[in-house]
Amino acid sequence: MEFSEVVRARHSFRGFTPKPVDENTLKEIFELASWAPSNCNVQPWHVHVLSGEACNRMRKKMMARAATDTSGNPDFPWQGKFSGDYKERQICSALGLWEHQGVTRDNPEKRAWSWMRNFEFFDAPHIAFIFVTDEFPELVRLAGDVGMYSQTLMLAMANAGIGSCPQTSVSCFPDLVREELGIEGHYKLMMGLSFGFIDEADPANNLRTERDPLEKTTSFHI
Ligand SMILES: Cc1cc2nc3c(=O)[nH]c(=O)nc-3n(C[C@H](O)[C@H](O)[C@H](O)COP(=O)(O)O)c2cc1C
Repeated sequence: MEFSEVVRARHSFRGFTPKPVDENTLKEIFELASWAPSNCNVQPWHVHVLSGEACNRMRKKMMARAATDTSGNPDFPWQGKFSGDYKERQICSALGLWEHQGVTRDNPEKRAWSWMRNFEFFDAPHIAFIFVTDEFPELVRLAGDVGMYSQTLMLAMANAGIGSCPQTSVSCFPDLVREELGIEGHYKLMMGLSFGFIDEADPANNLRTERDPLEKTTSFHI
């Protein structure tokens, strides 16, 4: 694919087939992603890729936890509260997803189901968890590095015909993930990324989000 096609082919997909990505392709994609830039080239990301039984075990545990604990105890707390333009975009994105998932605002059960799909990893055969360590005082820069890494990763996946969904939601239960993976407490969970081959029959995958016109976000100066 042309680069611009790869960029536009990446969407957040929320429905996957059980077919796993083969090991060689997995390694190629994650190796490619490691070429993302970072402040002073520190490469602060620590990535754990779960497949097969490891992925299924984690899915089961996370679903059980999310069923009884709606907010969790994330290492990097997030409120999800926005205002103005940001709020408008947030609402647009949620309503768009619900529409494709057949969820209505006045149906709390369906809304809960939509939220729970996160912890089912949208049926994906793989999930990657991205950790950073607690030794970085400049959290904003660290988040920038992880953002660059994850976008490079998602583009590498899109280029290989693999769909993905970045997920803050799955970072709600870092203790559970650390325990399951045998990871020490100073590794902090920033986000997860469910990925695999897209289930074309899942209507959630028909969602296409919009972007504001360039004039609204970008100024050119001479
Ligand atoms: C850091 C980050 C966290 C996200 N967390 C979630 C999540 O927990 N669940 C989810 O369904 N989508 C999540 N998304 C996907 C966004 O909703 C999506 O990127 C946005 O609506 C734009 O749509 P697109 O990715 O299809 O272009 C996340 C995206 C980013 C970048």
